[in-house]
Amino acid sequence: MKYTRTLLLAVLLVLLAACTQPKPSTVGSDAGIEKRIEQLLSRMTLAEKIGQMNQVSAGGEVSNYAEALRNGQIGSILNEVDPVKINEFQRICVEESRLGIPLLVGRDVIHGFHTIFPIPLGLAATFDPALVEQGARIAAVEATGQGVRWTFSPMLDIARDPRWGRMAEGSGEDVYLDARMAEAMVRGYQGEALDANALAACIKHFVGYGAAEGGRDYNSTFLTERQLRNVYLPPFEAAVKAGALTLMTSFNDNDGVPSTGNTFILKDVLRDEWGFDGLVVTDWNSMGEMIPHGFGTDRKDVACKAVNAGVDMDMMTFGFISHLEELVASGQVKESAIDEAVRRILRVKLLLGLFEHPYVDVDAGQAVQYAESHLDAARRTAEESAILLKNDGILPLKAGQVGTILVTGPMADAPHDQLGTWSFDGEKAHTVTPLQALKERFPGQVNYVPYGYSRERRTRFDDIVAAARRADVVLVFLGEEAILSGEAHCLADLNLIGTQSELLVALKAAGKPVVATVMAGRPLTIERDLPNCRAMLYAFHPGTMGGPALVNLLFGDVNPSGKTPVTFLRTVGQVPMYYSHTMTGRPYNNETLLADIEPEAGQTSLGNTSYYLDYGARPLFPFGYGLSYTTFDYSDIALDKEAYPQDGTIRLTFSLANTGAYDGTEVVQVYIRDLVGSITRPVKELKYFERVPLKAGEKRTLEVQIPVSELAFFGLDGVTKVEPGGFQLWVAGDSASGQPVSFQVL
Ligand code: NOJ
Repeated sequence: MKYTRTLLLAVLLVLLAACTQPKPSTVGSDAGIEKRIEQLLSRMTLAEKIGQMNQVSAGGEVSNYAEALRNGQIGSILNEVDPVKINEFQRICVEESRLGIPLLVGRDVIHGFHTIFPIPLGLAATFDPALVEQGARIAAVEATGQGVRWTFSPMLDIARDPRWGRMAEGSGEDVYLDARMAEAMVRGYQGEALDANALAACIKHFVGYGAAEGGRDYNSTFLTERQLRNVYLPPFEAAVKAGALTLMTSFNDNDGVPSTGNTFILKDVLRDEWGFDGLVVTDWNSMGEMIPHGFGTDRKDVACKAVNAGVDMDMMTFGFISHLEELVASGQVKESAIDEAVRRILRVKLLLGLFEHPYVDVDAGQAVQYAESHLDAARRTAEESAILLKNDGILPLKAGQVGTILVTGPMADAPHDQLGTWSFDGEKAHTVTPLQALKERFPGQVNYVPYGYSRERRTRFDDIVAAARRADVVLVFLGEEAILSGEAHCLADLNLIGTQSELLVALKAAGKPVVATVMAGRPLTIERDLPNCRAMLYAFHPGTMGGPALVNLLFGDVNPSGKTPVTFLRTVGQVPMYYSHTMTGRPYNNETLLADIEPEAGQTSLGNTSYYLDYGARPLFPFGYGLSYTTFDYSDIALDKEAYPQDGTIRLTFSLANTGAYDGTEVVQVYIRDLVGSITRPVKELKYFERVPLKAGEKRTLEVQIPVSELAFFGLDGVTKVEPGGFQLWVAGDSASGQPVSFQVL
């Protein structure tokens, strides 16, 4: 009896110890750093603490900010990239403010700093986290070289509506792909050691922002907790686990609650469940915008709501700096909440080593911008990100046999547009367009006839068509300007704008082979254009080295390997259409009829199933799709078991053969379906991908391991776990191919 009691006591003590154990720091803090934080905090006045929570946008002369910096009223600035000015800001903070706390300097370094990589949607199309990580590292080296230590990237918003302009800034529609890209970018920006080249990542926009109603930016979202937990939150959780130092709240209100005042997401999930101890910043004035949202009466009210919900830093509302002192005095905000926020801010500054090294070496920093190796990585990334959507065999072009090349189209020589959205620091002068790259490679063979977007330029058609008749091949570069995607740049019509489609028709009629390349910030509805070209490469906005990359692809120096990171639609009316939808009770199942359904087919011919009378039920290209100059064949697909325990690992083996005439890389994709759940489950979910290079004729046996725990989801009982039962698994080159194999989870 006595023995049992002692045992019980021991168990209780162990449990108590486990509960009181401090959670491990997600951002990698340690006892030394925590001690320094407490020492500093104990010396700070309330006003100085609140000053740390204030972020302002720089502009104009350093003297405009000198007094506020000296008085400790600014914790962070954004939008200053002049290293001399940044050093001066730091000098004032470090040498002239009472406590010498350095400044955190932020900038939107979204897909490169000076050397611009493809837009994030294009990065996702590479399905190559290692390469994306390298790109983020390069962005960090360049940005930190000029004194920027914090980027507002990566954007992890799942986007399933291409009307939303900010689809360009994220990894597209898929949870798994987004999460892998998130980890890669966080690792790349911050580096392995948080050294002088570490650029703090800011995962954004928390959360659900990409689900804006109607695809109109800033719009409301109505995501249930289940959708949040199964789709929108996992990439953020992955990035937190990867050590992201900071997080930004989103503009949208979800189910009536603006994110910047949402205690459930900012405290219950982020802090309590995930243990995030990095800093939370608002989006630009998103605190102030809770007033027009109708979620607060005035700036004081929204400042109160934001800080109590768990926001640490105010970007450009000036709500904290103006009102937190009175809110503490009146007891509406506890000083302990302010202390917590300041701890998180100081933690990031200490982790970045800003106290030890507040200044940047201006000359050394200058020397690394546009380094040869950076340009090379940008080119390789652009090569991997381009997706071959159509090829009747005309590609790759044979360099020795092309004769005269007509180059035309609005994106042929548009250096600024080719950089894409959020490329503040990219420069036209350093950007190599397809026209430049072609001229360099084929001196004397290129005939360029410019073309603009607008209808007035239509007269140009005659010149272009005449030139096409004289050419041996027509390379037309189509798409959309950078300004047509990105923040607040949404579209209701996703066809190629202006007269580009008509241009293609006219070029085709000229009778020479037409190869189209599209540069855009989103998947455009290009169905009507496909018949008018013999091949189409889809490059998104490919960045600084887009020109050489595309020329290498068109002429076969590099074999295309990019895959669609988002479903390509036939028409905008199909929005939202994404591969991992759940199944209706009346699924669309007539595969032959659905391929070529015509408006006049009428509903009855297909029964009462879920489809459009005029456009059927299929997209133009499924998620994960992309052609190569070679072909790949999957065979001998087998699982090591028929049934797996919950803590088991699925071992999949298969053979992959390159069955064509070119060396190439296949993006192997593994999808699963959970057949029956406590809630309806997606028809397919990506659970693994890998780029596999194969020589022409080469065949390899591959093994993929997927932990059964990867099959967990937030079910009816509100618990994230794997539910036992039947599953299917596909291994294929896109989300619509392959034959399933079955297995059970016990
Ligand atoms: C607003 C955007 O929503 C956000 O993504 C960006 O980081 C901030 N502005 C700062 O420029």
